[in-house]
Amino acid sequence: VKRVTVPQIMQAKGAAPIVALTAYTAPMAMLVDAHAEIILVGDSLGMVVHGMPSTLGVTLDMMILHGQAVMRGSRRAMVVIDMPFGSYEESPEQAFRNAARIIAETGCGAVKLEGGSRMAPTIRFMVDRGIPVMAHVGLTPQATNVMGGFKTQGRDQASWPVHLADAQAVAEAGAFSVVVEGVMEALADRITEAVPIPTIGIGASARCDGQILVLDDMLGLSGRVPRFVRKFGDLGDRADQAIAEYAAAVRDRSFPDDTQVYR
Ligand code: KIV
Ligand code: NA
Repeated sequence: VKRVTVPQIMQAKGAAPIVALTAYTAPMAMLVDAHAEIILVGDSLGMVVHGMPSTLGVTLDMMILHGQAVMRGSRRAMVVIDMPFGSYEESPEQAFRNAARIIAETGCGAVKLEGGSRMAPTIRFMVDRGIPVMAHVGLTPQATNVMGGFKTQGRDQASWPVHLADAQAVAEAGAFSVVVEGVMEALADRITEAVPIPTIGIGASARCDGQILVLDDMLGLSGRVPRFVRKFGDLGDRADQAIAEYAAAVRDRSFPDDTQVYR
């Protein structure tokens, strides 16, 4: 089976909505692979899988380890791996070196990094040297300390030209798609109309060229989630129920029963 390619994603703009989800492990990647064009190994894994307070402590080695697991669990989807905080901002050379490591050690199809106009020269440098880059604008979680928390972007219409310029800059630099996170719906629509590459929305607009969510959030495995998350499942409640039943069965010695022992 051939994996989804960069040109296929680019051609989806204006055609069919792109389905994207995160995954961090092989079994979850296998489930997502059956339905999505893109699996993102997001640095959200720091919080979702490792219980970190933010994405800032995530390392390149962590991204590669989870990236390898997701590649093993998937066959068809394009796997995109997030570049973690500190692994690409310093220079185009640093970004290329670390992205090349991610691609060489995982076999993934592309990397993602946060930032607009500021990162455009870096994106150009990487793409020219063979690394497909997905950009990420609007609310960029790695900049949480600068932004003063997670704030919806573009509430003040005066800021729209800056956000539009960010999206246009990454597109002109050669990014093959761009995540638009946590922005006012009308701004997301403007960005989607303005750029020639697919926009992948999260907390953005139904008119983006695709959508992405954190898998654990939409499955109901996370505690509190932002309002832009729709819970398509309640796996957290169901897991809690199953674990409670297991604990009760151990305590009343009804587990294991005749069928679960070797005689
Ligand atoms: O880290 C992540 O999961 C992401 C998506 C939410 C876009 O960057
Ligand atoms: Na991320």
